[in-house]
Amino acid sequence: MDALLALDQGTSSSRALVFDRTGRLLAVAQRELTQHFPQPGWVEHDAEQIWADQLACAREAVAKAGVKVAAIGITNQRETVVLWDRQTGQPLHRALVWQDRRTAAFCDDLKRQGLEPRVQALTGLVIDPYFSATKLRWLLDHVPGARERAARGELAFGTVDSWLLWQLTGGRVHATDVSNASRTLLFDIHRSDWSDELLAAFDIPRALMPEVRPSAGVFGEATEFGAPIAGIAGDQQAALFGQAALAPGQAKNTYGTGCFLLMHTGAKPHASTQGLLTTRAAQVGAEAQFALEGSVFVGGAVVQWLRDGLRAIGGSGEVQALAESVPDAGGLMFVPAFAGLGAPYWRPDARGALLGLTRGTTQAHIARAALESIAFQSAAVLSAMNADVGPAGRLMELRVDGGACANDLLMQFQADLLGIPVLRPRVIETTALGAALLAGLGTGLFASTQAIGALWQLDRAFEPRMSRDEAGARLAAWDRAVRQVLAE
Ligand code: G3P
Repeated sequence: MDALLALDQGTSSSRALVFDRTGRLLAVAQRELTQHFPQPGWVEHDAEQIWADQLACAREAVAKAGVKVAAIGITNQRETVVLWDRQTGQPLHRALVWQDRRTAAFCDDLKRQGLEPRVQALTGLVIDPYFSATKLRWLLDHVPGARERAARGELAFGTVDSWLLWQLTGGRVHATDVSNASRTLLFDIHRSDWSDELLAAFDIPRALMPEVRPSAGVFGEATEFGAPIAGIAGDQQAALFGQAALAPGQAKNTYGTGCFLLMHTGAKPHASTQGLLTTRAAQVGAEAQFALEGSVFVGGAVVQWLRDGLRAIGGSGEVQALAESVPDAGGLMFVPAFAGLGAPYWRPDARGALLGLTRGTTQAHIARAALESIAFQSAAVLSAMNADVGPAGRLMELRVDGGACANDLLMQFQADLLGIPVLRPRVIETTALGAALLAGLGTGLFASTQAIGALWQLDRAFEPRMSRDEAGARLAAWDRAVRQVLAE
């Protein structure tokens, strides 16, 4: 059997999944990733733990499936920065996670200097601590000796995909794919190369940078598994691919740690005027592919906070029952700006708020408002996207995936707010599936992307039930709550 192994290294967990060539899931192994918060607004991961967990999961999943792996795909939390020693393979510092806000003041400086329009034109992104460049610069400035060693070519930078690729190939390959490169703030998405102009502006030596390749194709050999690593994509672009959203106008929303709504725009980049990002979609073959993206920093992470911060639930699976134990959120609005607000607001300094507390507020209301906040944030992104693409391109349906899309209450509320059907596929492990399919294409197991479209199957369609008046009133209440947070 031709089995495909997907390594799905996310913000909250490291996972390995084995699929057969029809996209059927054969085995899965998972480990939760330790989050380090050394200061308010700082978020770090231990890159060594990422590698050790990922390897352990891969071994476990392959053993459970009892198959020989034909190809490996990597998909990963994007933007997170790893800096390591090329000689020893040791990281110089903990990885700085995409949610980390430590470079907010530096980003403000860059904006004041007027750099943003040029950055936007080259990268499709905005200046925000979210992206890799300012974090990499922080490491070079703060780790003793790092800058000198980087200039001498002794160090390597990578997003998590590059880090795993390096480890899997025993330090033989230092590369990334276009979708991950496009999240660094250093990649010219039109010329498909690192931008010398931006490397200079952020003071990053080119010697640190990985080689950039298309998302499907052989990157190197993972000797331990006797198989090539033949697909790499950032998790959101992998999910877009796994949802078979391969044609212009098709879109998906992934409910993971954050929520990421991406619309494929084909071979043409669409520059946003609404606070969205232009990004590279997964690339198979020579032609560049683009997507429009709205990034919400806290999605499923709000459920994690209910569990670990508030201790309102024992496990994430309990949130739906708790939220459903009350008929509504009792007027409560939860703006989970734990890590600032991403699209379409871009305010790294914003912090979370619970508005409308009364003596009658219970944990159940908070849980319900927390779930609703995931849908509200996604609705704000979708409305920005509709405004960007104009009436002819309006989204008529939304494909969904990621852990929290198993939550029926959330999906129904999402459809109610959006006023369009929300389509949940049978396989909601779309991110991992996308990486596996890219690896299958990269090794020639699939002849073309057309074969991928046939694998998508509907599990359930959530049709909007709320009146448009009520949805409008709810969305207006959300806007008011966000405005209050932004005014702080
Ligand atoms: O841009 C960050 C994103 O890639 C993280 O995804 O699935 O870990 O929430 P996830």
